[in-house]
Amino acid sequence: MTSAATILNDNAKESIDMRQQLREVMSGVCTPVSVVTALEGSVPFGSTVSAFTSLSLDPPMVLVALDRTSETLAAIRASGTFGLNVLAAAQSGLAMQFAKKATDKFRDVLWHNEAGVPRIEGASGWVRCTVHDLLDGGDHIIVNGLVRAASHTPETSPLTYHRRRFGTHAELA
Ligand SMILES: Cc1cc2nc3c(=O)[nH]c(=O)nc-3n(C[C@H](O)[C@H](O)[C@H](O)COP(=O)(O)O)c2cc1C
Repeated sequence: MTSAATILNDNAKESIDMRQQLREVMSGVCTPVSVVTALEGSVPFGSTVSAFTSLSLDPPMVLVALDRTSETLAAIRASGTFGLNVLAAAQSGLAMQFAKKATDKFRDVLWHNEAGVPRIEGASGWVRCTVHDLLDGGDHIIVNGLVRAASHTPETSPLTYHRRRFGTHAELA
């Protein structure tokens, strides 16, 4: 006979298996790699993100999903503004640096303050936003941004992330 405890255990196991499967599916989704930045006072914050996408052209909007515990998210909430530095293929070192929990992530990084937001030198794309609204997304917060400035460096290869490895895009022959 199947006891209530066994059914509960089976459900919990299925849920863990499903999360593991979802992780594997998502690791097979090739994403661009960006660093989302914000200033709190004069202190720069930044986090590597793959969960960044364009949302709307009229008005121009993008979204980024950040873990609720992200210190960069706290700086975005406080300042009401943020930047997205779309990394170039040569910037995997920066991607690793901004994926850490640390207070000195900007040490040795070439950046400047552009209209109140840290802009990283050498990125292939730059989008500066003001916060439109924040939405619940489970253990993440979805930050919807109204685009205030956008520019890109033509002919720059993008940094990509696939199966937990950095790479770039190649056109099919
Ligand atoms: C390739 C890659 C992509 C990532 N994408 C995200 C993401 O989309 N959202 C997120 O919250 N964290 C993401 N992370 C993890 C954050 O970069 C990491 O938790 C970081 O330490 C957060 O820093 P903060 O607390 O200073 O904001 C990613 C890490 C890597 C290596």
